[in-house]
Amino acid sequence: ATDALVDRFGREATDLRLSLTDFCNLRCTYCMPASGLTFLAKDQMLSVDEVVRLVRIGVEHLGIDQVRFTGGEPLTRPDLDEIIAGVAALRPRPNISLTTNAIGLDVRAAKLKAAGLDRINVSLDTVVSETFERMSRRPLLHRVLEGIDGARRAGLDPIKVNAVLLPGVNDHELPDLLDWCLDRGLQLRVIEQMPLDADRIWDRTSMITAADVHGILADRFELTAAEEPRNGAPAELYEVTDRSSGAHRGQVGIIASVTRPFCADCRRTRLTAEGRVRTCLFSREETDLRGALRGGGSDEEIARIWRAAQWGKKAGHGMNSTDFVQPDRPMSAIGG
Ligand code: GTP
Ligand code: 5AD
Ligand code: SF4
Repeated sequence: ATDALVDRFGREATDLRLSLTDFCNLRCTYCMPASGLTFLAKDQMLSVDEVVRLVRIGVEHLGIDQVRFTGGEPLTRPDLDEIIAGVAALRPRPNISLTTNAIGLDVRAAKLKAAGLDRINVSLDTVVSETFERMSRRPLLHRVLEGIDGARRAGLDPIKVNAVLLPGVNDHELPDLLDWCLDRGLQLRVIEQMPLDADRIWDRTSMITAADVHGILADRFELTAAEEPRNGAPAELYEVTDRSSGAHRGQVGIIASVTRPFCADCRRTRLTAEGRVRTCLFSREETDLRGALRGGGSDEEIARIWRAAQWGKKAGHGMNSTDFVQPDRPMSAIGG
């Protein structure tokens, strides 16, 4: 029987974000330390069957209708096709999406789509090689661009592009990045950096805010709020018009997690790669499901543990309060 994942504030989680690995082939400064981390061993991570079972419990018992696979980098799991095929066979079938850096997607996109992948969001902060290497600490921009091309050829649609802006690094490139995305029919979403890096470089006073983004784009583009309802999504959408030609070019999203938090309408629950529930990006505690999974727990028991965890979800991230404490895990080990 379905009994929704609700919390004490009356929010219902229908959106599952599941991290498949904490490993990544990039080292973005806002997400992971240069040295990497002590990555999980294979047997610590959920197997294909375990992932599919947990998603099935979510779908059948808890009312989950959207699953997003994240990482680390989910494409570094060779069994990603199997996981997606397993989840696509569930009833009711959830919407299946992927947040990825796109490296290797040129080779894999068609197979992933055939397995049941519905849509992807690609992390790309710049289309300038030097800036890419500075932000990701790897000279791999060409691989990302090949990956995006491959995804388009495979017919994945929509493809959204996520860009985190760092002051003095890629903020001035934003108009060019937007132009590049609009030319290719990609929806760019500009993200306010959150305090989830390992090096603790985040600084509330110098971070690029949503208001800054409007300022940076204003010379070249006119933005007007889009009509469609937001439905709990992090991004606020705008229609984009070229100032010089007056042509409508498409949409851009702004994800203002810090300056305009959307926690009151949050519909998310998260699982880490080792099978722990995190009710929020900024949770200070986690609830293990893998123990029950590997210890012979029934679907009902696992659903009950998950539900009890979700009930304790905090009202919001608390980033703007003076007693805010950054979580121990960096973004790469949470999954975004
Ligand atoms: P869509 O289903 O396409 O709307 O995906 P999404 O935007 O929810 O997911 P994606 O993985 O592309 O995340 C984009 C940005 O939003 C990243 O910087 C995420 O960290 C941020 N984000 C995703 N979920 C949350 C959340 O629950 N809270 C906050 N504050 N930020 C989030
Ligand atoms: N703040 C905001 N967004 C971040 N991401 C990674 N680290 C951070 C951070 N510190 C984004 C990535 C990716 C998504 C999952 O989260 O750009 O697209
Ligand atoms: Fe939800 Fe936490 Fe994100 Fe706020 S910060 S929207 S509560 S996951």
